[in-house]
Amino acid sequence: MNVSILGIPMDLGAGRRGVDMGPSALRNAHLAGRLRELGHTVTDHGDLNVPIPETVDKHKTAGYVFLNQIIDSCRATVQRVRDLPAGDFPITIGGDHSVSMGTVTGNALRGPGSPRRTGLLWVDAHTDYNTPQTSPSGNIHGMPVAHLTGLGNPDLAGLGGGWHMRPEDIVMIGIRSVDAQERELMREAGIKAYTMKDVDQLGITRIHEEVMERLGGVDALHVSFDADALDPSVAPGVGTPVPGGLTYREGHLLMELLCESGRVTSLDIVEVNPILDTRNQTADVMVGMAASLLGQRIL
Ligand code: ARG
Ligand code: MN
Ligand code: MN
Ligand code: MN
Repeated sequence: MNVSILGIPMDLGAGRRGVDMGPSALRNAHLAGRLRELGHTVTDHGDLNVPIPETVDKHKTAGYVFLNQIIDSCRATVQRVRDLPAGDFPITIGGDHSVSMGTVTGNALRGPGSPRRTGLLWVDAHTDYNTPQTSPSGNIHGMPVAHLTGLGNPDLAGLGGGWHMRPEDIVMIGIRSVDAQERELMREAGIKAYTMKDVDQLGITRIHEEVMERLGGVDALHVSFDADALDPSVAPGVGTPVPGGLTYREGHLLMELLCESGRVTSLDIVEVNPILDTRNQTADVMVGMAASLLGQRIL
C-alpha cells in the first residue's frame, strides 16, 4: 500500500502545551520505518504550518479558545488531506484532537465519488462532543465530533461545504469521561458509543463485529485514535489522562481486527504529548498501533 504521512503540529485546541511536538515524537519512534518494514511505500509530506500559541493572542471568542486560528488551520488541513495522492492511505499525525475536523472532512472529500459516505471510528477516552455552550473549558479539542455533525460554529461545522458526518456513521470506543451537558448532546445525536464498561463486558472482538455491521454501508472508514483512549499506564504522555483505559492488548487487538476487515481507509494519531511522556513511550506505543492496523503480524 502507498501510505501518506502528514503532520499537523497543533496545540491550540488543547488546554496545555506540548502536543504540537507529537509529529516529531511519532517520527522519532520510526513511524515511517516500521510501516516500510511491513512492505508499504511511505511518503512523508512534512508538517502543516500551524501558529504556536505564543504568537497568538489568547482570548475566548463566543466560548472558544483560539477559534480563528483553528478555523484557518482546519481549512488548510482539509485542502492538504484532500490533495494527497489518490489511492494513498493517509496517516495524519497531531496535534490535538481539533485537527480531526480537518482530517475527517479532507478524507471524505478525497477521491472518486466524493463526498464519500464516511464512517468514523473514534477511539478515545472522551466523546469530544462539546459545543461552546456545553464545554467546561472552551478547548476546541473537546468539540471536534460535534462540529463534524454540524453543531457549533458555522465555519468549523462548514469545513466541508455542505458536507457533514451522519451521526449514525459514527462509533466511539474507549469512552470514560463525558461532561454533563455533553452527555445530553450525545443522547440527542444518537451516536453509538462503547464505554469502558462495554469493553469490559463485551470485549473488543464482539465490539469490532458490531462496528463492522453498523458501518457496513459506508464507502470510506476513518479511524481517529486519541492516545488517551489507552490506559495512562500504557500511554502516559497525554494532556487529559483518564484512568481505566484500553489495555495494550485491547488497543492492538482492535487494530488487528480492523486490519483483517480490510475496511479502514485513513487514520489519525492524536494527542501524543512528549512533554508529559516518559522516554517517548506514548509515541512508540501509538506507532505500534498504526503498525497493527497496517498489517503487522505476530506470526
Ligand atoms: N471534555 C473535556 C473538554 O471538553 C476534555 C476533552 C479532552 N479531549 C481530548 N481530545 N483530549 O474540555
Ligand atoms: Mn479526543
Ligand atoms: Mn481524549
Ligand atoms: Mn454546515
